[in-house]
Amino acid sequence: MILLTGATGRVGRATASALLNAGLSFRVLVRDPAKLTLTDSRIEVITGDLGETQSVQRALEGIERALIVMGNHPDQAVIERQFATLAREAGVAHVVKISSMEASADASAVLPRNHYETEQHIAASGMDWTFLRPNFYMQNMLMYAESIKRTGSFALPLGAALTAMIDTQDVGDVAAAVLSGDGHEGKIYELTGPDLMSFHEVARRLADVIGHNVCYVEQAPEEFRDTLERFIASRWQLDAVCELFAEIAAGSLAYRTGSVHQLLGRAPANIESFAQRYAAIFGGDSG
Ligand SMILES: NC(=O)c1ccc[n+]([C@@H]2O[C@H](COP(=O)([O-])OP(=O)(O)OC[C@H]3O[C@@H](n4cnc5c(N)ncnc54)[C@H](OP(=O)(O)O)[C@@H]3O)[C@@H](O)[C@H]2O)c1
Repeated sequence: MILLTGATGRVGRATASALLNAGLSFRVLVRDPAKLTLTDSRIEVITGDLGETQSVQRALEGIERALIVMGNHPDQAVIERQFATLAREAGVAHVVKISSMEASADASAVLPRNHYETEQHIAASGMDWTFLRPNFYMQNMLMYAESIKRTGSFALPLGAALTAMIDTQDVGDVAAAVLSGDGHEGKIYELTGPDLMSFHEVARRLADVIGHNVCYVEQAPEEFRDTLERFIASRWQLDAVCELFAEIAAGSLAYRTGSVHQLLGRAPANIESFAQRYAAIFGGDSG
């Protein structure tokens, strides 16, 4: 049996949908079942919090493979490591962790450093493991959809930096393939989309699909922080995101890999297919 965490989030939901498409049954651990957008008799739902030992233990009973993914939070590293410890005690054979492409021994920003240290904790547990390290999520652009729709522009403090942004459905498809397949033990997969693009190119390509002008405004880091402060209450999260974006601006995500193609036997989704799917939200012709 497979257990998914984060099934009400982007990657977890995408993994769930890929497992269902593959005809598989699985269990999810969610805080609020009402937030599950997928309902299917093959999904066993356990209600609980990843930070609560008892609910995690209940969710892990009889589990062979588990996906650990959760949103960034001051306690994320502690919770994910505790999950791994409980998984080992419950006899789980293989843990798949959603990490990030910047995770490394010398990562200076807190989010990738936490991911790397959690990877190390999982690797030392004795369980089999696979680490998925995605590039920037295309779905991050949905945060700017309202601005793109209303003003035809979006602002980020990323200068002319390149990313090879990836559709979270591809991350989920890879996670499902790893959870249900063999030969992925001890592997780190760096997952990217098909194209290295600046955000100016992202804007041009979004515009071509949605049918109206989109302009990327290079924002000063201080201005980004002031804007973000209106939406993010947590000081820790504000600092963590600003620090991460400074690294992306300096080129930390300017890498493209062929991993999605190798693992899924097809090309990863490009920005056009992402934009088509969300065209109405971006104020496209159908919106
Ligand atoms: N954004 C990027 O570009 C990017 C790139 C590479 C890697 N990553 C990594 O991807 C991860 C986030 O993945 P995502 O975008 O799929 O996340 P997401 O959409 O923000 O969803 C987070 C999920 O975690 C669940 N969760 C959070 N705290 C929980 C708790 N205490 N107990 C149970 N469930 C909890 C949430 O449940 P609720 O619905 O109940 O809140 C939700 O299902 C992060 O680790 C991030 O570092 C992000």
